[in-house]
Amino acid sequence: MNTTKLPYDFIGKIIITQEQIQARVAELGEQITADYQDSKKLLLLGLLRGSVVFITDLMQKVHLPMSMDFMSVSSYSGTESSGFIRIDSDHKTNIKDWDVILVDDIVDTGYTIQAVHRLLSDRHPHSLKTCALLDKVPRHKVDIHIDYLGFEIPDYFVMGYGLDIDEKGRNLPYIASVDLEKYKKLYG
Ligand code: IMP
Ligand code: MG
Repeated sequence: MNTTKLPYDFIGKIIITQEQIQARVAELGEQITADYQDSKKLLLLGLLRGSVVFITDLMQKVHLPMSMDFMSVSSYSGTESSGFIRIDSDHKTNIKDWDVILVDDIVDTGYTIQAVHRLLSDRHPHSLKTCALLDKVPRHKVDIHIDYLGFEIPDYFVMGYGLDIDEKGRNLPYIASVDLEKYKKLYG
């Protein structure tokens, strides 16, 4: 088997390696472990589907009793996300009294995480913080703060480690940029 062949023809370049991700995720887990020592009810709440790979690695680095839940939202306005979200599938936990950490894969404009943060705040958790693996800071359109951030990245469209382009690329163990020219040729 030729292990050097990349599984997708439209990979631009690898921008964060598997080793870099694993090291940073371990640090985030340690930070969360330290910050939530006194928490009685810690909940990692992931946004489907992009955060799945990240959250499952992250939770194993949190050395405290905790629970995990998910919700799925869509945000609309052509190709860009907007401040309006639709809940496609809601979380099961009644988050009142929980220390919630909202986990997403990537922050782009910031609309999604801001809108979900507002929605969760209205459900009166004991505390609410945000966590994202990646942040495209120059693209922000809203003023938001990510409490636990993996990496800041430039304005590339990326895939891998759970992130997709039209559902492709989630299985890569690293973060790669998408060669959008090649992608367009292949998929229109
Ligand atoms: P925002 O609402 O503009 O911050 O967009 C956040 C959402 O858009 C993320 O949850 C991702 O699903 C998606 N997204 C934004 N940029 C990328 C990217 O480069 N690759 C894959 N998904 C992305
Ligand atoms: Mg997403």
